[in-house]
Amino acid sequence: MEDRLVSNLKREEDQVIDQGLRPKFLQDYIGQTKAKEKLEIFLKASQLRGESLDHVLLYGPPGLGKTTLASIIATEMSADIRITSGPAIERPGDLAAILTNLKDGDVLFIDEIHRLNRAVEEILYPAMEDYAIDIIVGKGPSARSIRLDLTKFTLIGATTRAGLLTSPLRDRFGIINKLEHYSMEELKEIVLRSAGILNIPVDDQGAEEIALRSRGTPRIANRLLKRIRDYAEVKGDGEITLKLAHRALELLEIDRLGLDKVDHKIIEVIIQNFGGGPVGIDTLAASTGEEKNTIEDVYEPFLLQKGFLSRTPRGRIASVKAYDHFGFSRS
Ligand SMILES: Nc1ncnc2c1ncn2[C@@H]1O[C@H](COP(=O)(O)OP(=O)(O)OP(=O)(O)O)[C@@H](O)[C@H]1O
Ligand SMILES: [Mg+2]
Repeated sequence: MEDRLVSNLKREEDQVIDQGLRPKFLQDYIGQTKAKEKLEIFLKASQLRGESLDHVLLYGPPGLGKTTLASIIATEMSADIRITSGPAIERPGDLAAILTNLKDGDVLFIDEIHRLNRAVEEILYPAMEDYAIDIIVGKGPSARSIRLDLTKFTLIGATTRAGLLTSPLRDRFGIINKLEHYSMEELKEIVLRSAGILNIPVDDQGAEEIALRSRGTPRIANRLLKRIRDYAEVKGDGEITLKLAHRALELLEIDRLGLDKVDHKIIEVIIQNFGGGPVGIDTLAASTGEEKNTIEDVYEPFLLQKGFLSRTPRGRIASVKAYDHFGFSRS
């Protein structure tokens, strides 16, 4: 999984790719029209009132721009952003320390907010609602709770698994935005924008080809762009054209829908070894040699979304569309 080019999960190389490619202002953030429109209104309204923005929850699959949008919001508010993540905050005291150190109007970004533990999460409730925290001083029978006031801040939470958020936490966000997969046109715009920043010559059709194979995900589009640039420099004259993009993607074993070898293997196993299914996830994992969790979290969502697989109580079934796309006859 680690060297899977079309994974939507963040990889080491993305750290470098991200620098400079992340849009800084709302107007450079391509797509997500609905989320953007909402945010624009709320940002303007809070500025007019001279108040900090309501707490924002961003959710959606990896690589769609949650972290990017969080820092854009802070920039648009001219606020400082403090970045942390659910698993990094181990004890209630850690969160209390972060909260009491915030300056008026700051943004606190908590990534993977669904992974906050319960005790920490409970500190967050009054902090979000009343800008105060209750801390316990002393031990045993003499222990008592004191309330500490906090300055006004905006919490931005991000999660790939909104379903795992507890409802008391979810209910405390005034603005909830779901990020959607990007259309081909939007991804093409992202590819052209990134190519411009990185000085990569790419023509219209070349950009479109990359967009088509990026699984609706900007992170993958940027990653493919960089890989194909390498190919263009070594095997071509540096320019990414349709023909060159084709050859590069063939070498990288990414098909015209952005599916790679493992996606193909999963479908092949279901069709060839199990007559199209249903196949249980454990059997599927054993037959493909992939981890069960990896199949469920990384591969399956896109195959489901594309309608190649369906999930039934008895297992996974390959669809008619899968037979056609992967070149199997249905007899
Ligand atoms: N709307 C957009 N316009 C242009 N580029 C974008 C957009 N959204 C994301 N990107 C690019 O995609 C990359 C990945 O986005 P980001 O890191 O914000 O995703 P994420 O949703 O936070 O992912 P994860 O769930 O893994 O944390 C960014 O570095 C950015 O360059
Ligand atoms: Mg992120």
